[in-house]
Amino acid sequence: MNKKKLLNILGKKDLLEINTKNSLVRNLSNENLIETDLIELISNLVNHNIWQLIKEITWEAEIKAWDLYIVGGVVRDLFLVNKNKKILTQDIDLVVDGNNSPLNIGAGIEIAQTIKQRHPEAKLVVHYDFKTASLSWNEDKRYGSIQIDIATSRTEIYPYPAANPKVQLASIKQDLSRRDFTINALAIKLTSPERGKLLDLFMGLLDLKKAQIKVLHPNSFIEDPTRIYRAVRFAIRLNFNIEANTIQYIYDATKNEIYDKINSEISILPSLTIRLKNELRSILGTNCWRASLELLSYFGALNYLHPKLTLNNKVLWQMRYAVRFIKYVNPHYKIVQWLLILEILLSSIPQKERNFVATNLQLPSESIKRLLEIQNINKKINQRLSSYCKVSDKVKLLNKFNNVELILVAAQSKKEIRSLIWQYFTRFSKISSPLSGHDLKKMGYLPGPKYKKVLSILLDKTLDREIKTRKEAEVIVQQIMARRLD
Ligand code: CTP
Repeated sequence: MNKKKLLNILGKKDLLEINTKNSLVRNLSNENLIETDLIELISNLVNHNIWQLIKEITWEAEIKAWDLYIVGGVVRDLFLVNKNKKILTQDIDLVVDGNNSPLNIGAGIEIAQTIKQRHPEAKLVVHYDFKTASLSWNEDKRYGSIQIDIATSRTEIYPYPAANPKVQLASIKQDLSRRDFTINALAIKLTSPERGKLLDLFMGLLDLKKAQIKVLHPNSFIEDPTRIYRAVRFAIRLNFNIEANTIQYIYDATKNEIYDKINSEISILPSLTIRLKNELRSILGTNCWRASLELLSYFGALNYLHPKLTLNNKVLWQMRYAVRFIKYVNPHYKIVQWLLILEILLSSIPQKERNFVATNLQLPSESIKRLLEIQNINKKINQRLSSYCKVSDKVKLLNKFNNVELILVAAQSKKEIRSLIWQYFTRFSKISSPLSGHDLKKMGYLPGPKYKKVLSILLDKTLDREIKTRKEAEVIVQQIMARRLD
């Protein structure tokens, strides 16, 4: 990231830039908000069928005399998107304030279970410990792919830094005050009375206008280090700056052997690493991966993954190459960008410790295996590829490895090897034998195991440019068959 951009995010930008950013925020001042029907605004922005679903959930809450709020990302984005532009969110967060109703399971779970009865096609997942439930639809005809989380308003108590929080039922106001940033602590009431009322206890709307990420309390990052990743993600994605005190709180959290501390508790903290992985998935899967990683590194926050994790120019350069490869081969090869970038990042950790880090992050088993084997694969490909003269031999060697391995090796190798692997993807792997089994049959040869051998010889000779036309291929076939190959 260039210095100017970094300074911008850290809040040292000029006024002109702030003004440009402000234009992103809807023209709603605090005074006209009361009159503005936020309900209508949301209903116009989300898909019609999903809005009907939200209305159903709202009725259920009203029947029980509970208060229902829409919170989090949707409310934040509501103030950011252009008028008339639909919100493309796949994740809607609702909170039920059960007004201290003496329910054991939690009001949110009860409503979700009622909705599930009416929509058996929905998938319901209940987290009793957290008093939350989520209903999801996958490529549904009416709703598309959407997840609606229905939580019961609650506070979270962190028994010790970075621990999994313990949950206690609480009012919506307490619920909002446990959240990460002012811009994410906005809620809109969906039930009557005061339907459409905006709850903005921490001046989140003002921060949206100022285009700044501001934390709600000094200990936020110590309690939940994933919030550092979130601060960076929102700052880069929304082009916001991070407020000065918030930056200081990030430094307070990242100094002092955090990794050792967290590591000593890793057996009781598995969900911290999983939450970090989920944030990394969101960060590295977008075009903002580079700026976000640089900012995380600048804050020392990559040390939550491993103290020796470094983001130097070499590693960044490898990532850029890998992303360029992916852009070319996807969507056909379905290569997962965030995972590949993460694997390159983790490759800079000493090999002996990689397994531990990757396992804690619960990466897929093939990723963990690759991280352990990539050095050997790299060596094998580099040594053999340079010693082979014939293209067909090079292709046969590369055919033995999967695409992710090849992209990793290409990104981590010198120019000649990289360009050979590039040619493999872009040219050689697309070349096929000029004749098919069907053609051999037409030429009068009886089908059998020799077909495979003949076709493979034809492919090799085509790759090596020894045959260029069908006619030449037919001559070769006749010669091979005369030699009674079988
Ligand atoms: N939240 C939090 N601390 C976290 C994660 C989430 O306080 N570590 C709160 C925030 O209020 C956030 C809400 O939970 O807005 C929902 O979280 P999530 O769905 O993960 O993120 P969104 O804010 O909805 O952002 P995105 O649009 O990227 O999904």
